[in-house]
Amino acid sequence: MKILVINGPNLNMLGIREPSIYGPQSYEALVEYIRTAAQELGCEVEIFQSNHEGALVDRIQEAYGVFDGIVLNPAAYTHSSIAILDALKAVALPAVEVHLSDIQSREPFRRISYPAMACLKTYAGLGFAGYREALCFLCQYLGGLL
Ligand code: DQA
Repeated sequence: MKILVINGPNLNMLGIREPSIYGPQSYEALVEYIRTAAQELGCEVEIFQSNHEGALVDRIQEAYGVFDGIVLNPAAYTHSSIAILDALKAVALPAVEVHLSDIQSREPFRRISYPAMACLKTYAGLGFAGYREALCFLCQYLGGLL
């Protein structure tokens, strides 16, 4: 099972960026966490991060025919990007949305998620563990266990 993990803008600043919201650990620590979780779950992962909306759209399009599923944290583009929603719909790969923080309990503008409309599930407010949950869900879903 090949899963593409996509992280959006400013997630590369983890550890420096608002640690009271996003935690003290770095982006490199998140990458390591995801790799370990994937290994434990027996799936193959590729991890991509970009601060640019078009690059995220390109990566989703390139996943078509190559990956079995997508885990994505679109970061701030969550709340504005119809282009990311359309890219997810275009490739029609099973996708799961992740947010480190609980977007429903923050500012009102964070309550809307466009990509969620093309995702099977959203994990929010679990920190790094949300990525593990998302991988686990996708592995079970792709394995026909859900
Ligand atoms: C985020 C939540 C978004 O609202 C925010 O813009 C981010 C990170 C999260 O992981 O909690 O950049 O996606």
